Amino acid sequence: MKAQDALRRAVPLLRDAGIEDGARDARVLLAHALGIGHDRLTLKLQDDMTEPQEALYDAALQARLARQPVAQITGRRLFWGQSFRVTRDTLDPRPETETLVAEALKEPFLKLLDLGTGTGCILLSCLKGMPLARGLGTDISDPALQVAMGNTRDLGLEARARFRKSDWFASVTGTFDLIVSNPPYIAASEMPSLAPEVRDWEPDLALTPGGDGLDAYRAIAQGAGSRLMPGGRLLVEIGPTQGQAVAAMFRAAGLEDIRILPDMDGRDRVVAAVKPGGDRCGAA
Ligand SMILES: C[S@@+](CC[C@H](N)C(=O)[O-])C[C@H]1O[C@@H](n2cnc3c(N)ncnc32)[C@H](O)[C@@H]1O
Repeated sequence: MKAQDALRRAVPLLRDAGIEDGARDARVLLAHALGIGHDRLTLKLQDDMTEPQEALYDAALQARLARQPVAQITGRRLFWGQSFRVTRDTLDPRPETETLVAEALKEPFLKLLDLGTGTGCILLSCLKGMPLARGLGTDISDPALQVAMGNTRDLGLEARARFRKSDWFASVTGTFDLIVSNPPYIAASEMPSLAPEVRDWEPDLALTPGGDGLDAYRAIAQGAGSRLMPGGRLLVEIGPTQGQAVAAMFRAAGLEDIRILPDMDGRDRVVAAVKPGGDRCGAA
């Protein structure tokens, strides 16, 4: 079969399965099966596919029809300009999380802690952007930590990034001038209404702490004071309605300079806070 016939066959199947932008997904999956970047697909559309390529494409298409996310099928996701390995054990890095990375890189830091590191996308992107910094990534999930370590090797950051299994701050020692986290924040009551790609394929542990969705922030607010250096910054990603509640927790924990920052779509996405004291180099 020619590549363009494979593409033509897939688009209506994906559309009938209710998948938005099925044409784009079909192109990405076809490029994956052909082993090329999807920007080169047009050049290959007239070529005959080999049997293994057809088999890989059919399997990828079936997986997508079962609503598996494209990044899990191809195993890769581009984040902050770099390619990260993604599996069923990790959250698929979201573009809005780049808001947190951009904010982290606005001021210098040397010792970084990333709580709930998943693929390592926040930690490793921050380290790429701050060449003298070192970082610790933690997660409660062993398989997620394995993925983060693989991404660290792929990006050549082994000398500056290390990882530890920890329930939030429980196994973390030392102090840091920057602590970042994108914790699970979906309320238990919201889980049934998530898209099947998220609800049925991404790990529950990465999506929800249960209850009102705020428990991870409670743990982070409680532990941050003793793990931040004086003048150190705390940055967490939030769901768009959670800003005031998380800001109040950080204020009650004695942090100051609390700000709620929007993402590229104008929705509240990050809460920033600072531990009092110290001399913040580079602070405005
Ligand atoms: C929303 S995902 C974020 C992953 C990654 N940092 C990102 O932004 O794509 C939350 C992560 O927190 C981890 N996690 C959940 N509960 C945890 C806990 N009690 N302690 C540490 N990490 C936890 C999950 O395994 C998951 O990797």
